[in-house]
Amino acid sequence: MSAARLVLAEAAILLREGRIVAFPTETVYGLGADARSAEAVRRVFEAKRRPENNPMIVHVDGAEMARSVASEWPERAQEFAERFWPGPLTIVLPKADVIPGIVTGGGPTVGVRCPDHPLALELIRAFGGPLVGPSANPSGAVSPTRAEHVRAGLPGVPVLDGGPCTRGIESTVVAIEGQTARVLRPGVIGADELGATPYIDGKKQDAPLPAPGLLPSHYAPRAHVQIVPSSAIDAVPDDTGVLTHSDVGAEAIHHVALPDDAVRYAAGLYEALHTLDDAGVETILVEEPTGDGPIWDAVRDRLTRAAAPRS
Ligand code: TXA
Ligand code: MG
Repeated sequence: MSAARLVLAEAAILLREGRIVAFPTETVYGLGADARSAEAVRRVFEAKRRPENNPMIVHVDGAEMARSVASEWPERAQEFAERFWPGPLTIVLPKADVIPGIVTGGGPTVGVRCPDHPLALELIRAFGGPLVGPSANPSGAVSPTRAEHVRAGLPGVPVLDGGPCTRGIESTVVAIEGQTARVLRPGVIGADELGATPYIDGKKQDAPLPAPGLLPSHYAPRAHVQIVPSSAIDAVPDDTGVLTHSDVGAEAIHHVALPDDAVRYAAGLYEALHTLDDAGVETILVEEPTGDGPIWDAVRDRLTRAAAPRS
């Protein structure tokens, strides 16, 4: 079997053998393994070099499988699942015993999501159970939105190729806590739509359950990222890449222009960062997005993290 052209049936066999397989979702590619096997999940932590206290989300094919990995399924969870699944929403709930502690970073809760991608859903069904699926990139790096990004970041990992991801940024993570819900990671589904407390800022957040993946320097390319106003983009040195979304005239060799539309900008953001990073630039100047709404908020969140100094 060639790792480059993996088919669904082969991927399901590998997963049953406790191996890891990267798979497409509508947000970013995930690194899959049997969520009920501590040994399989350990392989994911090792491949990503992910800190062990950072919990992984569990992918399911619908509400029924979600109920098997959570020990409680409040009405609010049912409502979210009916409205937003399959889709880019991860719901944090008390975990069931079938989920080993390594999945949840030793914590009592599990994040569950039903991805809106036919290959991901077919894979879960062919495998016959829940799959962990952190983004399929080395810990701290930019998430992959194409199979090629996975192959470059995690060489040797078998990838189920589903083409480019349509959403482009990771799911909204929401915790249900009694009668309230709180956004732990912003995404394309906004707090308003969920009737949840909005995400404010990882540092300011007074949270019993912070999402440890929300370290300031998450999602960072190798190049140094700077977010600048449109007026600061003009002629730039050859070792500097530029990412714009307006018709600002950038005189740059390495220039990616994304559409000034939240959905399409989000869909192209990580690919743009990968492209500029692969060009070997020292610095990436990002024209500051100023649009309103949950998707632009999530875009600004990811850009701010990409620009944060490495810890
Ligand atoms: O869109 C996505 O969510 C992608 C695709 C592949 O599904 N997956 C993804 O996984 O982004 P990952 O592991 O890179 O990010 C999961 C985020 C992290 O910030 C993690 O800390 C948080 O969710 N998280 C997971 N389980 C949690 C829990 N029990 N409590 C709080 N935060 C949790
Ligand atoms: Mg990630």
